[in-house]
Amino acid sequence: MRPRVRVRYRKVAIRAATAIEGEGVTAYEIIRKKRDGGELTGEEIEYFVRSYTGGEIPDYQAAALLMAIVLIGMSAGETADLTMAMMRSGDVIDLSDIPGVKVDKHSTGGVGDKVSLVLAPLVAACGVPVPMVSGRALGHTGGTLDKLEAIPGLRTDLSVREFRDLLRGIGVAMIGQTDEMVPADRELYALRDTTATVESIPLISASIMSKKIAEGADALVLDVKTGSGAFMQEEAMARELARAMIDIGVRMGKRVRALITDMDQPLGRAVGNAVEVAEAIETLRGEGPDDLRALCLALGSEMLRMGERAASEEEALTLLADAISSGRALQRFREMVAAQGGDARVIDDPSLLPSAPLQMEARAEASGYVQGIETREVGQAAAELGAGRATKESSIDHGVGIMIEKKVGDHAEKGEPLARILARSEQAGIRCVQRIVDAYGLGDRPGSVPPLVRSTVE
Ligand code: URA
Repeated sequence: MRPRVRVRYRKVAIRAATAIEGEGVTAYEIIRKKRDGGELTGEEIEYFVRSYTGGEIPDYQAAALLMAIVLIGMSAGETADLTMAMMRSGDVIDLSDIPGVKVDKHSTGGVGDKVSLVLAPLVAACGVPVPMVSGRALGHTGGTLDKLEAIPGLRTDLSVREFRDLLRGIGVAMIGQTDEMVPADRELYALRDTTATVESIPLISASIMSKKIAEGADALVLDVKTGSGAFMQEEAMARELARAMIDIGVRMGKRVRALITDMDQPLGRAVGNAVEVAEAIETLRGEGPDDLRALCLALGSEMLRMGERAASEEEALTLLADAISSGRALQRFREMVAAQGGDARVIDDPSLLPSAPLQMEARAEASGYVQGIETREVGQAAAELGAGRATKESSIDHGVGIMIEKKVGDHAEKGEPLARILARSEQAGIRCVQRIVDAYGLGDRPGSVPPLVRSTVE
């Protein structure tokens, strides 16, 4: 069942519905108009978003409109209207009473992308407040909220008051969409996750930017993924997505920069939920995989400069490295976990995180160098193990996952593990093993390792 939003909002939704219905427009006609290539008015978009969030339009009609948008697209004006309608579905927070430039980062979605778990406490430990509203698993990609909730007890459904208190107290809070904040994105996001309606520049832009504007950040760094594990596989499309989001941000008076980054192989080694939390903790300790650390430093450096804590890249990198080596970044994560109700003992003892009972190996069927990894397949395989959802009602298995042993450029002997699978059942594990073996491309020469940061858009 779709949770109902609070009374104040429902009253507004009913008024909006009546106004448009008075002119003879219905959800059916809006879907048909978009399906046939028409441009929706701001009023139609507002009506649809309010009525869906208020529970008056059912999932099947919303799914039909989403699919029409994926297939037909939206103009820049429609995308802006959709973003504003989603943003206005809840409160828009004013954080101006909290000192400092508030800076957030958001990723367009990847496989093994646990950057937010490292970056938010790291940047906060350097003195820049980070108000972060994140999402759950989406399609084949993982979600920050699901990963955080692998920590026993941790709540991501904080009230706006709790969110503000945390920001004021420890300079960082990581929460999800709630009844109070962007409920429209919570509903539409969950629907898109299971209806193959993610890969759309207007839908991704509106989803990300409605959250980011509502949360009250002054500036935003976007991590726009490209490659076989990204929603925008072609770099040109990733740049177009970055441009669309920057345009919306600028219209709303926010400073926004985007890095186009590689998703042609999983980031780091862990893919799942609890395993990604463990890897994020390792990275905050200064021991994580090189690519994950490098990306956190690149994005963190942008955030510190936008937050006016560093004047140059060198200065920012020094501050970030010091926050890690001194233990301050890990301590900030510990404080945030405890403040959000989580069991902070996991930070010193990750064995307290949930773990699936079975371990299996996906082994190389012949010797060779890893030339490429079908990264979407790896994400899909993890989701099928239980790390993602098959339907809106499915629950996540936080303990399952995949540990990548061989990355692009590595050599594997026949029979050596390419990846280790953490599964709940033997059947699920065996299916995953085959999928992972098939996702690896091995050859005689080492594949070229793609650059982690491909370009910048501003
Ligand atoms: N992240 C979001 O919040 N929304 C999307 O649509 C994709 C990534």
